[in-house]
This record gives sequence, C-alpha cells and structure tokens, in this order.
Amino acid sequence: MLKVDNINVYYGQIHALKDVSLEVKKGEIVALIGANGAGKSTTLRTISGLLRSKTGSITLFDENVSHVEAYKLVAKGLAHVPEGRHVFLQMTVLENLEMGAYTNSANVKAGIEDVFERFPRLKHRKDQIAGTLSGGEQQMLAMGRALMSKPKLMMLDEPSMGLAPILVQQIFDIIKELHEAGTTILLVEQNAEMALHVADRAYVLESGRIKLSGSGAELAKSDEIKKAYLGG
Ligand SMILES: Nc1ncnc2c1ncn2[C@@H]1O[C@H](COP(=O)(O)OP(=O)(O)OP(=O)(O)O)[C@@H](O)[C@H]1O
Ligand SMILES: [Mg+2]
Repeated sequence: MLKVDNINVYYGQIHALKDVSLEVKKGEIVALIGANGAGKSTTLRTISGLLRSKTGSITLFDENVSHVEAYKLVAKGLAHVPEGRHVFLQMTVLENLEMGAYTNSANVKAGIEDVFERFPRLKHRKDQIAGTLSGGEQQMLAMGRALMSKPKLMMLDEPSMGLAPILVQQIFDIIKELHEAGTTILLVEQNAEMALHVADRAYVLESGRIKLSGSGAELAKSDEIKKAYLGG
C-alpha cells in the first residue's frame, strides 16, 4: 500500500531524514516510534506531499507519488491527521466535518452519520465551536474530519498527545475499530507501549534514521526498546 524507499529530507541545512525506508502493507497497523525530534512527523509530512525528499521514492497505492501534490493524495485515499489536532477553531463541529469531505462531496450526510456513530460525543456537540472543545474532543474531531475523505490509508501523528489516560485508551480503541473496518494505519506515537501493543509491525526512528524494525510484539520485548522507550 505504501513504500518509502531511501528518502533524505532537509529543512535548509538540517538533515532531518537519512536514508529512511519503510513499508505499510494493506490491512496493517504500523507504528513509527522515536524520541522528540527523531523525524517522525517529518516522515509523515513527506509521505503526504508537504515536504519533498532529495532522493529515493514514495510509492502509494502502486503509484510513484514522489512529486504528486498533497491534495491529490487525499483524493487518492490518503488521510493525515497532523500533530496538535489542527481543527478549524472558529468553525462548528459540523462545519469541520463538512470541510473534511472536500474530496468526497458525494456522500457528506452519510459520512457525518458514520463519524457521529463512531464519536457520539461529537454528535452532542455538533453546533459547538471547535475552539471550545476539550483536547480529547478536538482529537476526535480531527480524526472524524480525516474519516470524511474515506481514506484507505490513515496516518495519525501522536493522537494520544496530552490526553488523560481514559481518553488515550478510547483513542486507541477507535484506532483498532477503524483498522477492523478495513482502514490501513500508520501511527506515530510517543506512547511506545500502547503503540507497540496495537501495531502489527513497528519502526524505531533515531536522529533521522531507522534504527530498528520488527513486529510490535518483538520490539516490545527488546531490551533496547525497553530501556529507551518503555522506562526500563
Ligand atoms: N520547520 C522546520 N524547520 C527546521 N527544522 C525542523 C522543522 N521541523 C522539524 N525540524 C527539525 O527536524 C527534526 C525532526 O523533527 P520532527 O518534527 O520530524 O520530529 P518528531 O520525531 O516528530 O518529534 P516530536 O516527537 O517532538 O514531535 C528535528 O531536529 C526538528 O528540529
Ligand atoms: Mg512530531
């Protein structure tokens, strides 16, 4: 479904991604973990066409998309829920969801019903201004908005960031449900423990390089991972 092959990404002089390769197969949940500044968000931004690699290629749904514009990738079935939620703060919940359907305007009503079924909290707050939602509710809205484009591959950048433990659990439950409903998922997380638990496979990024990869269960058992990311 997605193949990232040997990409090198720079911010001016900063070499943020070094020879990164990774793969996500149809039906998988793949986690990308690593410390702050390791390059996780940069990887997602490059896949979604917001940044360009100087080398290598990105193949999405069997097509080389290394030079395809971000909005076209959304129409092809890629959704990216960026770090920090980024909902439209001045708009209502409903308006935010409608914005998410810009590539898929045929069935907005049914899409909204689906999202409300998955996130009943949003239904009760459909006319509320997004800026007044709690952090967890904004995260749900950001995910709901991404779902409005009916993605085949959904990339989530730290969906549990800043949430209370009970909400973190809820977000992970929703990720599992989306996966069971057929969505392939690339998940970036600081919460390595939960990410490895839910993931089929995972990659560990360190200073812009893939340091380790393996099944979620394998990595959760690795001493190196335990020491660096799971608190011993
Ligand atoms: N817009 C930018 N301009 C310059 N450098 C940047 C920019 N964005 C990120 N970087 C640098 O690139 C590196 C990778 O950043 P990135 O945001 O991908 O890390 P991350 O793994 O997502 O970290 P975090 O867990 O803190 O979100 C860091 O050293 C960061 O300082
Ligand atoms: Mg990040």
